[in-house]
Amino acid sequence: MKRKLWLVMVWGLLCLPAALAEAPDPNDDLVPDQIDLDNLEKPLLGGKATDRPESSVDQRLQAFIDQGRDLFADPGLGTSGKACLACHQDPAASLGGKIQTYPKFSKVAGTVINDVHQVNLCLTKPMKGQPLNADDERMTALLAYLKSLVRPD
Ligand code: HEC
Repeated sequence: MKRKLWLVMVWGLLCLPAALAEAPDPNDDLVPDQIDLDNLEKPLLGGKATDRPESSVDQRLQAFIDQGRDLFADPGLGTSGKACLACHQDPAASLGGKIQTYPKFSKVAGTVINDVHQVNLCLTKPMKGQPLNADDERMTALLAYLKSLVRPD
């Protein structure tokens, strides 16, 4: 009997390092994988805006907006054969300024949702696709595109 107890204790000790190693990093879900927090470029940590030419920042954002525009017209995001554009045919007129209003109460969801939830609602319900993670580059691109839309009036 004593021997069994001893064995259980040794087994427990052997498992401890594995349990510790697998402990999830609490920041895992909050910080996009591609961002290396230890090596952030200086301007992001409060450097002067002039440290980096304005145009290169704009170009990087523009690349995301362009990718988002392509995704918006891509039926491959879902499995229903419909792209976002199929329902939101005049995106600037129908969605311009909308994404900035989130979080807000959604009648469809029956609760308060944020911008990522809203895009995923459309992605999963009418488009019958997989939801995108908040840190998925494609979600960032779609949001960048939606945010770039300006109502024509
Ligand atoms: C089958 C049709 C359909 C498709 C495809 C679709 N949507 Fe929607 N979408 C809707 C409907 C219906 C609403 C709700 C309209 C409303 O409440 O004003 C909506 C609402 C939205 C809203 C919120 C508008 C607001 O007034 O707050 C956004 C943003 C949006 N869609 C983005 C997208 C994106 C991005 C995609 C592609 C990933 C997409 N939609 C695909 C039908 C669709």
